[in-house]
Amino acid sequence: MSAPLNDVTRDVSHQYDRLQVSIEKLARDRKKVRNYLNYGYTNSRSESYEQRQENLCAAVFDAAEIQPADVIVDVGFGSGEQDFFLARTRPFASLTGFNISARQVEAAARRAAAEGLSDKLRFELGEAEALRGVPDASVDKLLAIECAFYFDRERFYARAAQVLKPGGRVVLADIAFDDRAGFMQGRADLRRVGTRSSNRRIWERHFRTHEVRCINRFTRPGTQLTVREIIRLVPGGGFTGPEVREWAKLAFYTQLVALGQMVNAIRYDLVVLEKPAA
Ligand SMILES: C[S@@+](CC[C@H](N)C(=O)[O-])C[C@H]1O[C@@H](n2cnc3c(N)ncnc32)[C@H](O)[C@@H]1O
Repeated sequence: MSAPLNDVTRDVSHQYDRLQVSIEKLARDRKKVRNYLNYGYTNSRSESYEQRQENLCAAVFDAAEIQPADVIVDVGFGSGEQDFFLARTRPFASLTGFNISARQVEAAARRAAAEGLSDKLRFELGEAEALRGVPDASVDKLLAIECAFYFDRERFYARAAQVLKPGGRVVLADIAFDDRAGFMQGRADLRRVGTRSSNRRIWERHFRTHEVRCINRFTRPGTQLTVREIIRLVPGGGFTGPEVREWAKLAFYTQLVALGQMVNAIRYDLVVLEKPAA
């Protein structure tokens, strides 16, 4: 059982349920696996789309300095691909994922069972802002890859600070408006994105800022590639009308991010926060 969602969060959970259903159709019909849903970190234009998406996850893992004894929470994990990648590539004690898309949680949990990883990777239906069932001061690293712009950030940072151990880290691959473009938050659908300064003011009530690294240069090639991927994959995908609409919406917002990055109105940052030692 998970707590009831508010209207904004319910819309997002339905959106990702539909995207997941269509991703599963693609995998079945074309043997094409599209499991990541991020813009990637491009080192070289010869890299595949999926390689770039994995690079972004690796950049977050590096910044988190994952250790063998770490207890990890991963919020907004998509289909969970990033956590299977983490389990393949780095030692850690355990990871609990939270996601509001029931379909994505089911897919990730099914895969963990099939791969014999259910003891190490647990996937829960629930909000990043609530982290239900996570004891206070029990988590070493909290990861949020390309999802915090959906969150009620006040609640999220406050709750993250409760569950982290002193000295623990939150690492986000995060998109925010540059301060000069703050007026864009006037749109109800963009309010949770926040500006770099307003987001920082919220997290600094709870955390010490270890690093904010602008990675626009590395994420921008992937935003354009994402629009092209959607145009390539969706027609003829056997999707329902509502599923096509979700992909169209994703393409629209992705195009907005691409344009925003081009004129520096949108910043893609790698954000590393530390909970001060008691
Ligand atoms: C753009 S996708 C990113 C997926 C994945 N991190 C990746 O990089 O491939 C955003 C994810 O955040 C999840 N999400 C959105 N709002 C959430 C919330 N309030 N709590 C937990 N998950 C949330 C969505 O269901 C979706 O899985």
